[in-house]
Amino acid sequence: MNVEFVEHLKTQWMAMIDALEDPLVLIDQEYNIRRQNLAYVEKAANPNHLDLREFKGKKCFEEFAGRNAPCPDCKVHKSNKDKLRSSWISRQIFEGRDLEVRVLPNVDGDNDDSLIVVHYRDVTQQRALQESLARADKLGALGKLAGGVAHEINSPLAGIMAFAQMALREMKPEDPHRDDMKEIEAAAQKCKVIVEGLLGFARQDAPESVEVYDLVDSVQSTLRLARVMVLKERIDLRMNLPEKQIFIEGSKGRIAQVLLNLVTNAIYAMRDGGGELEITVDESDDKVTLTVRDSGNGIPKENLKRIFDPFFTTKAVGEGTGLGLAISYSIVTQHRGKIQVESALGVGTTFTVELPKAHQFGQPGGS
Ligand SMILES: Nc1ncnc2c1ncn2[C@@H]1O[C@H](COP(=O)(O)OP(=O)(O)O)[C@@H](O)[C@H]1O
Ligand SMILES: [Mg+2]
Repeated sequence: MNVEFVEHLKTQWMAMIDALEDPLVLIDQEYNIRRQNLAYVEKAANPNHLDLREFKGKKCFEEFAGRNAPCPDCKVHKSNKDKLRSSWISRQIFEGRDLEVRVLPNVDGDNDDSLIVVHYRDVTQQRALQESLARADKLGALGKLAGGVAHEINSPLAGIMAFAQMALREMKPEDPHRDDMKEIEAAAQKCKVIVEGLLGFARQDAPESVEVYDLVDSVQSTLRLARVMVLKERIDLRMNLPEKQIFIEGSKGRIAQVLLNLVTNAIYAMRDGGGELEITVDESDDKVTLTVRDSGNGIPKENLKRIFDPFFTTKAVGEGTGLGLAISYSIVTQHRGKIQVESALGVGTTFTVELPKAHQFGQPGGS
C-alpha cells in the first residue's frame, strides 16, 4: 500500500468521524488523548483554549471535563481491566448535563497498553422527557385509581347519608342519639368531599362548590376530628387561632382536607415519644397563613424536594399512600395559594399554607 493511498483513506475516515455530532475519543490507559473527533473538541470544557491539534497527548479529564483528576464516576479503568464494554450516565462531567458514556476497551487487541474508545452522548433532554412521561404516567394511574375508588365508595356513602337523614327525621327532638346521628351524617359528608377532591386532583379540575367562609371556624371544627388522634399519641396540641373571623374564598372541604393531611403527617412523625403539635392561623393585609408545626422526626434533606410528588412515601405499605401532600399541593395551588415546608432532622417540621383573603363587601377590614 503506498503512502498516498493510506493518507487518502485516513482523510476519508476522519471526514466521517468528524461528521458525527457526538464526542468521540481514543485514549490510553493513563487517560492521555490519542485521537479525537471534531465534536470532542467543540464540546470540551477546554480550559486552556487548545486548538484541534493540541489535544493529542493531553489528559481527557483535564481538557474535556476541565478537572484535575479523573471524573469520580469514571469506569474507563474498570472496563479496561475486565475487558468489557460498558456504559453509564454521568452527571459529573458537565454540571447540569446527563452524558451517556460508552467505553470500548482493547481496541488494539489484548495487550497491556491497548487503547480505549470513549463515546459520549448528551441525553439530558431525553432523560427529562422520560421523567416527565413517568410523572404523567403516575398521574394517569392515579386518575384511574381515583375514579375506581370514587365509584366504589360513593354509593355506600350515599346510603349512609340517606339512612342517617331518614333516622334523624324519625327521631324525637329529645332523643339521646340525635347528636350521634348528626355526627354520622356530617362525617359521611366529609368523606364525600374527600373522595370528590381525589377525583378532582386526578382530573386537575378547578375547585367546585366555591364559597366565602370563615377559615378560623373551619379550622376549629376540623381539629375536633384530629383531637381524638392526638390524645391517643400523647401529643400536646396548641392552637393559636385569632379571636376573629378571617374569610377566604374556596372549597371548605378541600382546605379542611389539606389541614387534616398535614395534621395526620405531623402526628405520624411524633408517633414514638409524642411531642408538640402547634396550629396557628395568622393574617396579613391580603393573606392568611395556616401553620402546622410538629416536633417529630423531621425530613431528611434529600427527601424534601420529593415529598410533594404523588406516591412518594417513606411509610410502610398500608400505612401511607404518598398522596396526602400531592393532593394538598394541588388543592392549595388551585386556591391560588402556596404551601411550603421547613424541616430539621430530630427537631421537627413546619408546613406553611398561604391563602389569599376573600374580598368581602361590608366586612370589617374589607374594602
Ligand atoms: N410532618 C412531617 N414530618 C416528617 N415527615 C413528613 C411530614 N410530612 C410529610 N412527611 C414525609 O413526606 C412523605 C409524604 O407525605 P404524604 O404525601 O402525606 O404521604 P404519606 O403520608 O402517605 O406517606 C411522608 O411519607 C413522610 O416521609
Ligand atoms: Mg400523609
